[in-house]
Amino acid sequence: MSATFDELWAELAPLGRHRPTGGYRRFSWGPADVEVRSWFAQAAAARGLEVQPDRNGNLWAWWGDPGPDAVVTGSHLDSVPDGGAFDGPLGVVGALAAVDELQRRGARPLRPLAITVFVEEEGARFGVPCLGSRLLTGAITPERAAALTDADGLTWARAMEKAGLDPDRIGPAPELVDRIGVFVELHIEQGRALARTGDPIGVASAVWPHGRWRMDFSGRADHAGTTLLGDRHDPMLPFAETVLAARSVAAAHDAIATIGKAQVQPNGTNAIPSKVRAWLDARAPDEATLQAVVEGVDAAAQRSSGEHGVFLASYQESRTPLVEFENGLRDRIAAIAGDRNGPVPTLPTGAGHDAGVLASAVPTAMLFVRNPTGVSHAPDEYAEPADCHAGTAALADVLAELLGEGPG
Ligand code: GLV
Ligand code: MN
Ligand code: MN
Repeated sequence: MSATFDELWAELAPLGRHRPTGGYRRFSWGPADVEVRSWFAQAAAARGLEVQPDRNGNLWAWWGDPGPDAVVTGSHLDSVPDGGAFDGPLGVVGALAAVDELQRRGARPLRPLAITVFVEEEGARFGVPCLGSRLLTGAITPERAAALTDADGLTWARAMEKAGLDPDRIGPAPELVDRIGVFVELHIEQGRALARTGDPIGVASAVWPHGRWRMDFSGRADHAGTTLLGDRHDPMLPFAETVLAARSVAAAHDAIATIGKAQVQPNGTNAIPSKVRAWLDARAPDEATLQAVVEGVDAAAQRSSGEHGVFLASYQESRTPLVEFENGLRDRIAAIAGDRNGPVPTLPTGAGHDAGVLASAVPTAMLFVRNPTGVSHAPDEYAEPADCHAGTAALADVLAELLGEGPG
C-alpha cells in the first residue's frame, strides 16, 4: 500500500505547484484544477472505478453500482493561495491507495464505495469554503452560489460553464446524498495535538464553529503629501485598528480571529486610499463565543471608522455551525484504527472540512494524520511518509469494516 501511495503522491505533487514559493495554487476551475481533476479521473479509472461529476462539479468515483448505503471517502484537491501539499490531497491519495489495498486483499464489499473530490473546499477563488459540499447538501442556495464571483468578477456559474458543466443544474442533490450510508475523510492534522501526544493518527471529535466576514472601509482618496492629517478620511487607519482588535478580542475570548486578506484601492504609495476591503476569519469552541468575537471586532471597527470619518459596511460571507461528530461512529473508527496503532486519540479542530458540512446530512467521521510542526495552509505543511501510510492503512481498515464482506 505504501508503494501505491508514494507513486500517486509523486504523480500529483508537481501539478499546480508554484515553483518560486513552493506552494500550491490549485483554484477551482482554473488550469491547475483541470489538471488535478483529470489526474484523479485517470487514477480512479485505472482502478476500475466509474468516475462522474455530480451536478455541482464534485467528482465521484464509484466501485460497484452507485447504489444506496454507500461507504464514501475522499477530500478535496483545491488549495489556498500557496497552500501545502497535504491539505486535501492526503485524503484523496489515501482513498485511492486504500482502494488498491482492498482490491489487493480481494475484498468483496457488500456495499458500494465511492471516492469523492469536492470542489472549492477552501473558498480561495469564490469566497465560500466547502462550496461543493454545501451545494450538495443544500447548505447554500444555488442562486447564491451561482452569483459568487472571483477576483476578476467571473461568476461561479460562468466558471463552471467554461469548465464544461451546466450551471443550471447546480443545487441540492438528495438523490446522491441519500445514497451515502457513511462518509469518512482522511486529512492532515492542522495543529500539533498529535505531535504532542506522539500519535501518528487521531480521530476528529468536533469542528469549531467558524465563518468569514467581509469589511469594506470606505474613505476619501487624496494626496499623501498635501492633505493635512486632520483633513483625512483614511480607511487604512480603522482597517489597521481592526487587525489589532481581531487579535485582542480573540485572545480575550480564548478564540481565534485572523485578517489574512485585504485589498487596498487604489494602492498607491503617495495616495491616501479610497477603500480598504478586508476579510475576518473567526473561529471559536462554541457559537456564543464566536458571536461575541465577531461582535467585538465589528464594534472596534465601527468605533475606529467613526473616529476617522470612514464608512464601514460588514457582511457575513459564510458561517459554519459547530459540528460534533457522531460519538458511536467516532468510537468505532477509533477502535478499528486502534487495532494497528494502539489507542487513537480524539481531538477537535478549528479547521473547516467537507466532512463538517456533510455531518448535517449523513453519519460522518474524520481521521487525522500527525503534522510534526502543525503548519498548514502554507508551503511548509508536512506529514512524514510513514504517518501518511499509517493513515492510509487505518482508512483501508475502516473502509473494509464498513463495507462488510460478501461471500467469495
Ligand atoms: C479550511 O481548511 C479552513 O479551515 O479554512
Ligand atoms: Mn482540507
Ligand atoms: Mn484547508
